[in-house]
Amino acid sequence: MSTAWIPRYAHRAKGVGSSAIRELLKVTSKPGVISFAGGLPSPDAFPLQRFEEACHKVLAEQAARALQYGTTEGHEPLRELIARNMARYGITAKLENVMITSGSQQALDLIGKLFINRGDRVLIEAPTYLGALQAFNAYGAEYISVPIDGDGLITEMLEKPLRSGPKFMYVLPNFQNPAGTTLIEGRRHELVLLADKYGIPIVEDDPYGQLRYEGEHIPPLVVIDRENLRRDNGYSIGNVIYLSTFSKTLAPGLRLGWIVAPPEIITKLVQLKQATDLHTSTFNKYVAYEVARDGFLDQHVKLIRGLYRERRDVMLEALKEFFPPEVTWTHPQGGLFLWVNLPEGVDSRTILEAALRENVAFVPGNSFYANADDEACRHMRLNFSNATPEQIREGIRRLSLAVGSNLLSSCA
Ligand SMILES: Cc1ncc(COP(=O)(O)O)c(C=O)c1O
Repeated sequence: MSTAWIPRYAHRAKGVGSSAIRELLKVTSKPGVISFAGGLPSPDAFPLQRFEEACHKVLAEQAARALQYGTTEGHEPLRELIARNMARYGITAKLENVMITSGSQQALDLIGKLFINRGDRVLIEAPTYLGALQAFNAYGAEYISVPIDGDGLITEMLEKPLRSGPKFMYVLPNFQNPAGTTLIEGRRHELVLLADKYGIPIVEDDPYGQLRYEGEHIPPLVVIDRENLRRDNGYSIGNVIYLSTFSKTLAPGLRLGWIVAPPEIITKLVQLKQATDLHTSTFNKYVAYEVARDGFLDQHVKLIRGLYRERRDVMLEALKEFFPPEVTWTHPQGGLFLWVNLPEGVDSRTILEAALRENVAFVPGNSFYANADDEACRHMRLNFSNATPEQIREGIRRLSLAVGSNLLSSCA
């Protein structure tokens, strides 16, 4: 295409491409394809009737405000509801600590905008959430990757990277996307202490924390940071900025997430958000409040846990039944994903080609690394929330054919 615009792209646009998942989702929308590729919640988990009632109520009683411009921080009753909800998990945020964003994805972008200069290094888990890499890449971030194992980020390997002075750490302690692993409590304490020792702040991204299907709740880093370091500045937030979202508990189409941070940082983020979109949809915030209030959110989260626990179990069972013994996988205690480990030398991208011929899709592991190597290609991320139990069983059977034939060819 010949246009005077193309040579005029800013530097930040040069490192930006379409995400592998967005590209893959185009293929997977074909009829007949069973997709484990996206991170989509199940439409069966959307509380339709409650949304319908909430929309009517907002339009009947509060239309003049709900359809008007609003504050950048977001609708106060909703922020209060978020603060009350988080208090049950030990996060004692006040109104001034909470701002609403257009999904957690915007929170990641705003954090990039506020903290990352071109060439700054961000310490990340390997693998990590692809959307965070996309958000930070636009600001010219470079990365220090620290591997995870079955117990989450390997804190024993943190000291040297922290000494090298990254701008901040980006960590997913609960049911990590993509690996489904959870950072164990002992390591959470170590992480917070090391962060304090080296003066490196933490961004804790927690979209899945409420979706626990087994085991006990583990305190978030933001709570451990306050308790261990006895911060007594009246709110719980010191070295940790905490992010969460309604995408997995109500509906991702709302585009409603939130940031918990000290008031000075909220003020800066609010100024940056003003430049981005003035504020997140007022109407959606009013509706979300009406949907979530009076204990509905808790009740609904219980229902989602039941739905996804069953789907996770069906996927784990099917993997055991159909997959060859050389292949292993994680057993997530919550969230939406599990992570498959293929034997050395097997490339999940080749398996994806075969899988698409069988009409089943997943995301190859290399997408989730800042610097993907052969090891990164040996993994597959599987989502278990979006397909029905029947589709999951059939999809895993089809996938096992693609995996089986590629194990044979890589050994031959
Ligand atoms: C770890 C993580 N962070 C952030 C997001 C973005 O979520 P939202 O829909 O709130 O923008 C996702 C979405 O899948 C995610 O997995």
